[in-house]
Amino acid sequence: MALPEEFLEELRANNDITSVISSYVNLKKRGRNYVGKCPFHNDSTPSFTVYPDTESFYCFGCAAGGDVITFIMRSEQLVYIDAVKYLAQRAGMQMPENNYDDSFSKLRMRILEANREAAKFYHSQFFSEAGFQGLSYLRTRRLSDQTINKFGLGFAPDSWTALTDHLLNKRFTRYELLQANLSVESKKGTLIDRFRNRVMFPIIDLKGNVVAFGGRIMTDEKPKYLNTSDTPVFKKGEGLFAFNIAKNSKSDKFILCEGYMDVIALHQAGFDFAVAALGTALTSNQARMLKKYKETVVLCYDSDNAGQLATQRAINILRKENVNVKVLQIPEGKDPDEYIKRNGADGALKFKLLLDSIESDIDYKLEQLETQYDITDTDGKVRFLTQAARMLSEIKNDIERNVYASKLCEKYKVSLNDFELQLAKFVRSNNYRSSQDEFKRVKKQLTEKPHVSADDKGVKKATRAIRAEEALISYLMSNPDMVHSVYEKVPPEKISSEFNRRVYTALTQRLLSGRSAGFIDFSGEFTEEENAYIAAVFAKFNNELNVPQACSEYISVILEENEKQTAAQLAEKSPEEIQKYFDDMMKAKKK
Ligand code: CTP
Ligand code: MN
Repeated sequence: MALPEEFLEELRANNDITSVISSYVNLKKRGRNYVGKCPFHNDSTPSFTVYPDTESFYCFGCAAGGDVITFIMRSEQLVYIDAVKYLAQRAGMQMPENNYDDSFSKLRMRILEANREAAKFYHSQFFSEAGFQGLSYLRTRRLSDQTINKFGLGFAPDSWTALTDHLLNKRFTRYELLQANLSVESKKGTLIDRFRNRVMFPIIDLKGNVVAFGGRIMTDEKPKYLNTSDTPVFKKGEGLFAFNIAKNSKSDKFILCEGYMDVIALHQAGFDFAVAALGTALTSNQARMLKKYKETVVLCYDSDNAGQLATQRAINILRKENVNVKVLQIPEGKDPDEYIKRNGADGALKFKLLLDSIESDIDYKLEQLETQYDITDTDGKVRFLTQAARMLSEIKNDIERNVYASKLCEKYKVSLNDFELQLAKFVRSNNYRSSQDEFKRVKKQLTEKPHVSADDKGVKKATRAIRAEEALISYLMSNPDMVHSVYEKVPPEKISSEFNRRVYTALTQRLLSGRSAGFIDFSGEFTEEENAYIAAVFAKFNNELNVPQACSEYISVILEENEKQTAAQLAEKSPEEIQKYFDDMMKAKKK
């Protein structure tokens, strides 16, 4: 199960934690460490620290922490063994022989291979009689051959088993095809193709893997689009269509639209920063993906009712992730694809003009709000302005808020003073609400102990000892050469918390036998939660107190508390037991 020591050591040497993390986080040097904005929560101050000394990271905001493997597990959403593979691949290393359990990651590999083969198969159909109608369909939708190739579009023939047969011939198993959702079981129990008689859109992730497909029927039949269901390599609500291309665009923004065809039409017209959520409403997960690469997202949904509703929802989700949101409204009830096509040769230019004249999400929301009131009526106007003030009060930036307020007052010819009074009232009550929330959060943090293992929770142990133990562990991580003298004074049994004892034992065992003890070396022995806790401990004590004098202090606290504990235990024992204790102690000393 465990990976060989030497392998992990080499993996660590080849994947310097600072350089791995700096491709995800903009890091700045601070003393011996690096700080940046945490990629795992919505971080306004840089609360994320990388400690090159112990090859660990820790976020003071959300308590995420661990080693380079933990970091990749979280960032790339991988399980342990896949994160190791990811790093091995990054460093151009071979994985060791398979003596560990990787059946799940093998299955994922097989699914990706099957998907790739399927994409090739679908694409090749264009050049056969069975698939020519697919190609014609895409051409009537004004896609050039270049675009068709660039997106790897294809055609699933009107057959029950064309792809299934092809893949079985390529030695994919029945199980793999079902897991990939490329085939499904018929009523008779035989395998049939999931996609039939549809033009196919492969969905490609950032590593260039084909993770799923969307397929469009060429008539008015329902469902218009059929998508791959959740598989071991694809989850609905994760991933965005054309994200692999758009993230590399020179543009400083993304255009987010509803459909595959919209994205493709936009790319063909030169807007290579268009993406789409796949057959679902936008999720926070996707919002974070977008935010990771660009600050601004232009929403460009269909102008029908459903599209407007989706726009409102998406604005809220994006704002929550601190994305700068703009809204592009396509005139005349069209989607971007139709708009560009209808305008023929001018399509791209006209879309560019729309893009340049877009409004902010606030303008958009205010316009939408206005439609709900009859503002020719005084009462309606008052109610509208009250709601508008409530809406503007959510804007955190004072200047931005005031700009909108004065624009609004000018437009509706009302006194700015009165409006600002109203607005200030809402702002105050928002602030009160969020300070209450903040207070609750801090209180919760203070009363809740960090992820200390179960044995430490209920039992009233000297927290003084636990603190000193944590500090000592942290000290040893940065000063491995001190292990001999520390261990002599503090054997593991003197550590009072069972969890700290486990960490201390693992750490000292490694160091005493001359091995290294960065997190990565023994992280495999602890759960993900425990690893985060170890990183937290280290972060907490990684400061100017990491000096030999402090170390002596930690040791004396630990020993002192340990004596107290022992004395308390002895007091409850019978005279015989006490005698035995001293006898044992004397024997031990003579050795
Ligand atoms: N969608 C889906 N399943 C459906 C309908 C739609 O998954 N039954 C998703 C697809 O990703 C589609 C998007 O929602 O691209 C938008 O749907 P719609 O506006 O109906 O389609 P268009 O993209 O405009 O497609 P077309 O132009 O081909 O009609
Ligand atoms: Mn459309």
